[in-house]
Amino acid sequence: MFPPRCHYTTCLLLFLLVLSDFTISESQSPWAAKKKRMRDKVRNMFYHAYDNYMTHAFPHDELKPISKTFTNSLSELGNLKLEHLPQDYNGSALTLIESLSSLVIMGNNTEFERAVLWLSENLTFDVDARINLFECNIRVLGGLVSAHLLASDSSKKLFQGAYKNQLLALAEDLGKRFLPAFDTPTGLPYAWINLKYGVMENETTETSTSGCGSLILEMGALSKMTGDPIYESVALRALRKLWSMQSSLKLFGTTLDVATGQWIEYSSGIGAGVDSFYEYLLKAHILFGKEDFWKMFHSAYVAVQKYFRHGPWYHEADMRTGRATYWQLTSLQAFWPGLQVLIGDVIAANSSHREFFHVWKNYGVLPERYLLDYQMLHPTEKYYPLRPELAESTFYLYQATKDPWYIEVGESIVNSLNLYTKVEGGFASIKDVTTMQLEDHQHSFFLAETCKYLYLLFDDSFVHENNYVFTTEGHPLPVLSTWHEELPEAYIPTNWTFVKRQPRVNRISAMSLQVCPAMNLKSGQHIESACHIPDARSNYRCLTDEDCGVDATTCRRRSCSMAGYCGLWLII
Ligand SMILES: *[C@@H]1O[C@H](CO)[C@@H](O)[C@H](O)[C@H]1NC(C)=O
Ligand SMILES: *[C@@H]1O[C@H](CO)[C@@H](O)[C@H](O)[C@H]1NC(C)=O
Ligand SMILES: *[C@@H]1O[C@H](CO)[C@@H](O)[C@H](O)[C@H]1NC(C)=O
Ligand SMILES: *[C@@H]1O[C@H](CO)[C@@H](O)[C@H](O)[C@H]1NC(C)=O
Ligand SMILES: *[C@@H]1O[C@H](CO)[C@@H](O)[C@H](O)[C@H]1NC(C)=O
Ligand SMILES: *[C@@H]1O[C@H](CO)[C@@H](O)[C@H](O)[C@H]1NC(C)=O
Repeated sequence: MFPPRCHYTTCLLLFLLVLSDFTISESQSPWAAKKKRMRDKVRNMFYHAYDNYMTHAFPHDELKPISKTFTNSLSELGNLKLEHLPQDYNGSALTLIESLSSLVIMGNNTEFERAVLWLSENLTFDVDARINLFECNIRVLGGLVSAHLLASDSSKKLFQGAYKNQLLALAEDLGKRFLPAFDTPTGLPYAWINLKYGVMENETTETSTSGCGSLILEMGALSKMTGDPIYESVALRALRKLWSMQSSLKLFGTTLDVATGQWIEYSSGIGAGVDSFYEYLLKAHILFGKEDFWKMFHSAYVAVQKYFRHGPWYHEADMRTGRATYWQLTSLQAFWPGLQVLIGDVIAANSSHREFFHVWKNYGVLPERYLLDYQMLHPTEKYYPLRPELAESTFYLYQATKDPWYIEVGESIVNSLNLYTKVEGGFASIKDVTTMQLEDHQHSFFLAETCKYLYLLFDDSFVHENNYVFTTEGHPLPVLSTWHEELPEAYIPTNWTFVKRQPRVNRISAMSLQVCPAMNLKSGQHIESACHIPDARSNYRCLTDEDCGVDATTCRRRSCSMAGYCGLWLII
């Protein structure tokens, strides 16, 4: 029998089974040919970016596609004022590291192996370069950790089984170099560290919420793989300290001081400086199975929906009062609908995603910042640096709904990228979306994320091989039961045939048990649900069945009663 309670892991597995059933019937659909054509188009984009990087920039960090040269940009990431730049640093092959998991997803094992061998022989982190801990963690450590897990996955038949953990050795070396950053009175890490010499004298103590709160996936995975708990424990200590700094409204600010543990900027939203903090609470729960992460995410998510959301839009608010501060749409916020899909909040995700895509259609790409209250572009942030977030959300929404409309969205994104940003030497960022003037920079995340999510939208065979969590930089980490400290055995179904015969639902939450209970049947009391928080006007009650999602126990659709409560009892 299917267990009476549906633990999130089994729900996740069920979710994937449901998806694979779809794939079989989909292969005969008229969309199959289009998806194949689009997949090939995305693959060509990736190789145009990759081959030009390898020719003109490797082993430096990133490609300058217009002048066909390179930039050693790892030390510039997050460094807006370009301070303390290194004198003698020749790059760390950043774009190659960022491309590793994309090469595997696109099935290029030979190039992956070649890259791994080059890195294992030639990459060193013993360089006199001051780097941003957050950026280096998500791009370099994440890239290495993910590639190591892929390389050691025997089912992928990479290296004919002769892989010698070279990437893990590199990752561990880098992880050790991160540790001095955490040596602060609060445990909150410095934003900047010199890879060779540690924290510099008079280093700034200012950092961001994401800088302290989105290290746990990469550092936690490193601990699981090396058996050394230090990486996970410093990341966890920082996260807990950050958590303790929330306001009474359960909101967080954007910047803070690591020495005093005081907030500097009290206004925050779901975009720059905060975004991946929310993302990692949920993804850490999926990857490591700890209930604690779920509780944190749930409470933080409810506060976001309550104080930042305005219909399909998200504005910023002061963490102390909850009062709106900035009414701005930023390009980074477009990741949020993808996160909502992971908890089954598909309806809200769909409505925000539509608005972001609407803005994309208006400008041809997504501008960095749009002022909602003035209905105009931000005067200085009119750029589009080939960001992935809209493609990412489109991929997740298509996975959850299989609505072919998202394939058309993907096609439109691909066409815009090719039309406006492709140059002979790669893909260039857009400096100003009103003129489509270009900038001589191809960011490594274009290969790690933008191309990858578009590819996965049109060809998702990779995500059917395994359960993966994608880091905030798009690097896949497999969900392994051995990494879940307490996986209750009773919840692992033994007979999948039974599960497969369950009536199919097309909206199902990966973790619906904890997310969706809309009402306590015994007391009749409403429970605030992270899944579907209706607008305030409806008094936290549903208006239509669409508001109610899927029941966690039976995975059946719920309906909205006449009194405005979600429930199963009306379903025949
Ligand atoms: C960087 O490259 C320059 C020029 O090739 C070389 O002289 C220098 O030693 C290199 N520095 C390092 C740290 O490798
Ligand atoms: C793998 O990538 C290399 C470098 O771009 C390319 O030459 C080769 O054709 C690719 N192989 C496959 C199977 O795509
Ligand atoms: C390491 O770099 C050197 C110099 O570029 C190159 O000759 C060598 O082949 C590289 N090692 C590997 C395994 O690719
Ligand atoms: C650090 O600050 C102190 C006091 O302001 C100053 O004397 C010292 O020169 C600074 N050190 C560096 C490396 O800038
Ligand atoms: C998304 O929203 C649109 C417009 O509101 C609607 O037509 C469509 O059915 C929705 N799709 C899903 C999967 O909810
Ligand atoms: C699984 O369930 C089906 C249908 O209930 C039954 O016929 C089959 O024998 C079961 N298989 C196992 C391994 O228990």
